Amino acid sequence: MTPEKLIELAKEAMTHAYAPYSGYKVGAALLCADGTVYGGCNIENASFSPTNCAERTAFFKAVYDGHRDFTAIAIVGGKDGIITGAFPPCGVCRQVMREFCRDDFVIYMGSKGETYQSVTLAEILPFSFSASEHMN
Ligand code: THU
Repeated sequence: MTPEKLIELAKEAMTHAYAPYSGYKVGAALLCADGTVYGGCNIENASFSPTNCAERTAFFKAVYDGHRDFTAIAIVGGKDGIITGAFPPCGVCRQVMREFCRDDFVIYMGSKGETYQSVTLAEILPFSFSASEHMN
């Protein structure tokens, strides 16, 4: 699975977004260690706080299906689904990644055209709290 292909799948996932309040459509494609890919979109709510981000939608679908080992995630997003730059994951989504992923988990953020940026979970969530801390 190439980063470009995973970003394409995230763009397809973005078309499923339910974002009547912010207008920001977001898509994610989560690559499991066995090669399975789960799509996710943001799902907003009139009460705002129940809103679920695209990344967490993808993770929760995958975990429900029994996956616990993940390699990478691609994320795209923008106002009205128009991608103008990278769409970095929010803090809550980073913490959900931390629950299931190692430091070398890769986050691809699709940008304009075919360009993208990539970072590891360790880079975007340093000095983090994880399961190993509260299980000691
Ligand atoms: N959003 C995501 O889907 N992922 C993120 O990591 C950040 C924010 C969504 C939530 C909301 O529907 C919209 O983007 C604007 O905040």
